[in-house]
Amino acid sequence: MDTDYFQHKGIHFASIIYSEERLKYLENEFQVQDDDVYIVTFPKSGTNWMIEILSLLKTNGDPTWCNSVPIWLRSPWFETLEGQSQIKDVTPPRVLTSHLPFHIFAKSFFTSKAKIIYIMRNPKDILVSLFHFSKMLCLYKDPESFQEFFEDFLQGNVLYSSWFDHVKGWMQMKNNKNFFYITYEELHQDLRGSVPKMCEFLGKEINEAQLDLVVNNASFKAMKHNKMSNYSLLPKDFLDQTKGSFMRKGITGDWKNHFTVAQNEYFDRFYQEKMKDLNFTFFWEEM
Ligand code: A3P
Repeated sequence: MDTDYFQHKGIHFASIIYSEERLKYLENEFQVQDDDVYIVTFPKSGTNWMIEILSLLKTNGDPTWCNSVPIWLRSPWFETLEGQSQIKDVTPPRVLTSHLPFHIFAKSFFTSKAKIIYIMRNPKDILVSLFHFSKMLCLYKDPESFQEFFEDFLQGNVLYSSWFDHVKGWMQMKNNKNFFYITYEELHQDLRGSVPKMCEFLGKEINEAQLDLVVNNASFKAMKHNKMSNYSLLPKDFLDQTKGSFMRKGITGDWKNHFTVAQNEYFDRFYQEKMKDLNFTFFWEEM
C-alpha cells in the first residue's frame, strides 16, 4: 500500500480525505438523528445511483435539485474530512452516505430510529469497476496490472479493505427493521419495481407519475449526462477524467470481459470459502 494510507481498526483509509481522529469521533461521539437515512455501501456498489434515487424521492421525481446541486452536497460523505463541514449544511431529514464497515459505524445509530439502506453488488463487477476507477482517483495507487489488483481486492488491500468482511459485517443487521438491503443487480433488472420497496421502508408515498420521473431521471443515461451527478466537476488532480469516466458502463456481468477462466475459478473458490458462514444466497448468484 502507499504511505498515504493508514489503518484504523483493521481498515485501510487514505490520509488525504480521512483522519483517525474523525473516525473515532464518528464512532463514539457523533449523534445520529432519528430521521437520518444512511446509504451504506462498499465502494462501486451503486452508491451514487442510490443517492440519485433518494434525491429524486425527496423532490417527488422533480429533477431540478439533482440538476443544480452536486451529488456530494445532496448526500454528503459521512466519514470524509470534507463531509464534516458539508453535513452541517444539510437540512433534515438528512440522507448521508458512507462506506464504513459495520464495526466502526456510529454507535449512536444502533440506539436510534435512523435507517440504513445497504446496497451490495456482485464483487466480481465491483473488482472490475474499482480497477478502472483506481486509475482515475488520486486516492488509489495506480494498479500495475489487472492480476495484481485482483489479488489486492481479494486480500482486502484496497481502500475500505475487504468486500467480504464489509458484507458479512453489515448483513448481521438483515433482520433489523431499520435496515434495508438491496443489490445493484436488482436495481438494474427492475428499477421501477425496486423503488416502491424502498419507499415502503422509508415511509414515503409516491404516485405512478412521480415513480416514472424517479426511474427516468435516475437512469444511467440521465446521470451520465448530468454534470451534478457524473463527477465531471471534480478537478483533474483529484479525479483524472482523461483516464476514464465515473459513469463507466453501468452494466452487470462486465467481469466476464476481464476475468480469465483461471481467475474466475480462483475467485469462486475464495468467495465460497469466505461467504460460507453467512448462509445467504445473493441475487447475483441466482442470475
Ligand atoms: P461501472 O464502473 O461498472 O460502470 P459507486 O457509486 O458506488 O461508486 O458505483 C459506481 C458504479 O455504479 C459504476 O459502475 C457506475 O457506472 C454505476 N452506476 C452509477 N449510476 C448508475 C445508474 N444510474 N445505472 C447503472 N449503473 C450506475
